[in-house]
Amino acid sequence: MKKRILITSALPYANGPLHFGHIAGAYLPADCYARFERLKGHEVLFISGSDEYGVAITLSAELANRTPQEQADHFHQVNQEIFEKFSISFDHFSRTTTPEHAPLVQQFFNDLLANGYIEARMSEQFYSESDRRFLADRYIVGTCPKCGFEEARGDECQKCGASYESTELKQPRSKLSGATLTLKETEHWFLLFGRFKEELEKLLNARLWKSNVTHFARSYIESLHERAITRDLEWGIPVPLDKAKNKVFYVWFDAPIGYISATQAWAKQQKEANAWKKYWLDPQTHYVQFMGKDNVPFHAMFFPAMILGQNQPYKIVDDLVANEFYNFEGKKFSKSEGWTIDLDNFFRHFHVDQIRYTLAANAPESGDSEFTWRDFQLRCNGELLGKYGNLVNRVLVFLQNKLQAKVPKRAPLEEIDHRFLSDMQRITLAIEESYATYHLRRAAQQIMELAQLGNTYFDAKTPWKVVDSPATQTTLSLCLECIQKLACISYPILSQTAERVWEMLGNHQPLSHFTWNELLEFSLEEGRQLPKPSILFQKIEDEVIEQQIALLQQRHEVALKKKDPPYAPLKPMIGIESVDQLDLRVGLIVAAEKLKKSKKLLQLEVDLGFERRTILSGISGHYAPEELIGKKVIVVANLKPAKLMGVESQGMVLAGSLDQALELATVEGLPAGTSIS
Ligand code: 2FM
Ligand code: ZN
Repeated sequence: MKKRILITSALPYANGPLHFGHIAGAYLPADCYARFERLKGHEVLFISGSDEYGVAITLSAELANRTPQEQADHFHQVNQEIFEKFSISFDHFSRTTTPEHAPLVQQFFNDLLANGYIEARMSEQFYSESDRRFLADRYIVGTCPKCGFEEARGDECQKCGASYESTELKQPRSKLSGATLTLKETEHWFLLFGRFKEELEKLLNARLWKSNVTHFARSYIESLHERAITRDLEWGIPVPLDKAKNKVFYVWFDAPIGYISATQAWAKQQKEANAWKKYWLDPQTHYVQFMGKDNVPFHAMFFPAMILGQNQPYKIVDDLVANEFYNFEGKKFSKSEGWTIDLDNFFRHFHVDQIRYTLAANAPESGDSEFTWRDFQLRCNGELLGKYGNLVNRVLVFLQNKLQAKVPKRAPLEEIDHRFLSDMQRITLAIEESYATYHLRRAAQQIMELAQLGNTYFDAKTPWKVVDSPATQTTLSLCLECIQKLACISYPILSQTAERVWEMLGNHQPLSHFTWNELLEFSLEEGRQLPKPSILFQKIEDEVIEQQIALLQQRHEVALKKKDPPYAPLKPMIGIESVDQLDLRVGLIVAAEKLKKSKKLLQLEVDLGFERRTILSGISGHYAPEELIGKKVIVVANLKPAKLMGVESQGMVLAGSLDQALELATVEGLPAGTSIS
């Protein structure tokens, strides 16, 4: 029977680019599931979008010198492009600043308030007089109450690991301005989650979630208590009450409602404004949510409670799939530490299915897992190329060279052929179960099991010994069937490769136009002419991987230096008269060339307005001569001339240098000759 399936993936914060960890946790598993269920012929809707509110956005926006909206716009775009690169097949990728979203969030609030599940309370929060605002935990630093660390965060100490209320911090100050903080009373609205305890328990008992989710959720139910769902912030969805001026909703109150508003936005885009209803209001819909494990309480408890307490019969999630963390070469992915992979560079060197396969094969399903370059190389060369690509290539090339590229005739089967067929059948049935129950690791293994089965069978039958015998024809015919099944079962993970294989079997309609059963049962007609095959995967050479590892180390070192720059010690104090002795002028570089016989020096012609000077400067490793022409630099104009390598240098241009980096000090508007003091 045709099912209707709604799939949502956690809405990523629009405050930074996504990395493999996000993709492996919440997006690739959902995408593989969506692709599988579509092939099974079900009606699937796959939704996500950017999470644009909350301090995660405002804080990163402030650091990037953008407004929160600019920051969210920027990363909404960036992340959408990243999803495209990973072939994530959303039906719609929305955002929480759509016109649909805020009214829906306010409807939830109004219902919950009217139904007695929300209460206003006074509480004390840190206030910054100089910034004229209350500060959220993430904006506060101070001295750890446990270990005395002076740079401890608002809610946890990164040194000793203690967690506490920000009000316990000693000497609290603003992370942005350094201003000291005072405690001030403020009113907030609390959602009384404790009231939903019994219903949530019932819900949990009725659901067969994986143990990592159920355990987590059970431990939360015990301690369910009221939580503030409003904040004193400027960025967010306004609380629709007169007495709640300048208050917005806590991001975890508005974000999950984003799944519904995103579906509404999708319906509007389809020009079927009511189409969202069959997904959210029909109990027959099967609703599956994918996310990282840190999101479990919000999806297992808070969002269901919010739905239970308001007035619309919205669907409560049927299946919650939470993945553990996915690290990178032994550590967390970290942009600030340069512990990342440049995705543009990555996709210039590698194919999307190589990374999709690797992420699937070591998906963090039951424990944390990690991406390493060596493992990536092994999986790509040993499995994708060595097993999958090898089977497809050797069979199709054999047919091309020895059997006129035609689908051969099948003679009566022998014992070994029957066994091959029944083993294929076993694997294709088993993988169905893996996909349907979100076991991607197992599915990846089963793909390789089928490929290896084909290779072993091909080897055992030694078709190359007697090329045109009926037994050889049968071998090749069965191998083609294996490849056809391989294309089908690998499609959810290796979607582009599977389509290519399908095409190499002489099919003109894309694989995705068929259903799972059609694909598995499809029989290639005898005599069908097969196109010329091409190579599916290139070998990844050691040098390529070594280059990537070196690049990572380099990026990491630069990032650490930026975080903690090696400042030069201060020189002894001088009086103003020493500064007055320097005659600094704006100089326009009009010509530049490398000084022969010198690796470091460039010979510059600098116009000081009243005269031209020849100046030698040790910047050759940092600037190409042609990029200097037209730059206005700062020149020490009263420096005694000095001869270097036979050329007289009549001054010095100023530059800053930090470790390996060097940058000329330049001015933009002032004309050449202007005095700098
Ligand atoms: O952890 C995060 O990235 C959150 N932005 C996830 C939100 S999921 C949902 F509820 F919207
Ligand atoms: Zn501490």
